[in-house]
Parts: sequence; C-alpha cells; structure tokens
Amino acid sequence: MTTKPVKKTSIEDHLLASLLDDSYPLWTEFESAAPGTARHSKEVAALCKKVANKLGDIDPVLMEVLGRWHDVGKARNPKFFVENQMPGEPNIHDELDNPLYSFHIISQHVGQSTNILIHLEDLVAEDLLNLVKIISQHHGSTTTKYFLSKAQEANPNLDINTFRYYGSAPTTKEAALLMICDVFEAKGRAAFGGKTDPPEPEEFVGALLDELVSESQLDVLQVRDIREARELLIAELLSIYHDRIKYPAKEEK
Ligand SMILES: [Fe+2]
Ligand SMILES: [Fe+2]
Repeated sequence: MTTKPVKKTSIEDHLLASLLDDSYPLWTEFESAAPGTARHSKEVAALCKKVANKLGDIDPVLMEVLGRWHDVGKARNPKFFVENQMPGEPNIHDELDNPLYSFHIISQHVGQSTNILIHLEDLVAEDLLNLVKIISQHHGSTTTKYFLSKAQEANPNLDINTFRYYGSAPTTKEAALLMICDVFEAKGRAAFGGKTDPPEPEEFVGALLDELVSESQLDVLQVRDIREARELLIAELLSIYHDRIKYPAKEEK
C-alpha cells in the first residue's frame, strides 16, 4: 500500500470520465478513421493507468486519458501509420520513397493531436492546456529512426536533427511515463506479436528504457520511477506474450 500523495489533476472528474467513454463523439470518429491507432491508444491508456497505480503519486485517470488521446491527430492521415494498414496493403511510405516527406507527415501528428484537443468545447481552457502540454511532449525530441536510417543510406553525412520531432523532452512525470508506455506498446507489438522467436523481456525493456535515457528524454524521472516502470513492463510482457516467450533452461545443479 502506498503512502505517497497522489497529485490530482485540475480537470473535473466528469470531464475525464467523458473522455474515457467509448461513445464520446470524437472517440467514435477517431475509431472509425484510424482503427489501428485507436486500438493502440486504448492499450497505451490501460498501461498508463497501471504505471500510475504502481508509482502511486500520479493520477491514474489523467494518465488513462492521456493514453487514449495522445495520437488522435493520426486520424488526419491514418494510412501513413502502419497500424492502420490492412494486411497485404502496400506501405504508402515505400511507394513514396521519400524519407523526409514521410518524416514530415508522421511528425505532424503530434501538433495535429494538440490541435484537435484544443478545440474540444467540453473542456475549459485550463484543463485543455494541461492535457495538450503533456501530449505535445509524447515523442519529446526523439528522432524517427526508421526514416532517418533510410535517408542515411542515401546520405551518410545527413544531420540527424533533420529527423527529430519538434517537441521538447518531457518536462513532467506524466509526459515521460506516457512516452515510455507509448514506445513500449508500439515496439512490443512489433517485437513480440506473431513472432516465434521474441527477445528476452528483460533485455527488451532494458534496451527501450536505456535508449530513452541516453536521448535525455527521461531526465524528469527519478531512478526509482524508472525501476518501477521497468518491473511493470517486464511483468506485462510475461503476462501478454507468455506463450511466445522462451525461458532460458535452468542450469542443473
Ligand atoms: Fe504519437
Ligand atoms: Fe502512440
């Protein structure tokens, strides 16, 4: 049982509840325009809530709302995001064959998410600013590695900042944890979903967090926060993908 005080958001409870309601009009629009992203967002939301409950000092309902809405801007260009492509459908980025253009479309979704949310009439200005600020940092100042490495094939001397998101690194615990849950859900699905030989959960989670730390995206978190998040994510992998994870054979004594 935690004794840490929970920092409650200023957003009224009924507004948060409506943002978590599957029949909320903007949610139904989002789900029909970008079903894969909406599914990803629900997964991220569930994970955000679990992380908040484990850490004990941030608001789990606010974290769930952040997970739900962080990628709503992808509904503007759903087919540019792999989670919305149907099996067998050609990847639009392969057809474009222009990593810089792809990066611009992809990176725009952060501003598009905040732009959509800022126009929600249900929320008052102060509530929105809090949500929008956190969501604007969900990719921080990371680079889009896939398109960066494609561009580097043609130009090895390329300035990597060309492929960097425009946001700042997370400045709040909520933003940093949203980033972790988002990256974990997307990379975890790619690494473990449908794979017969997935990586070791401890190594996978360790590498994911180390990369964010090395890019100075988690500076706002304490070592203890990262340790608790790491434990939770490893446990998540073991519970979701337990049938695909091979455990190292125990040494005989
Ligand atoms: Fe995103
Ligand atoms: Fe996301």
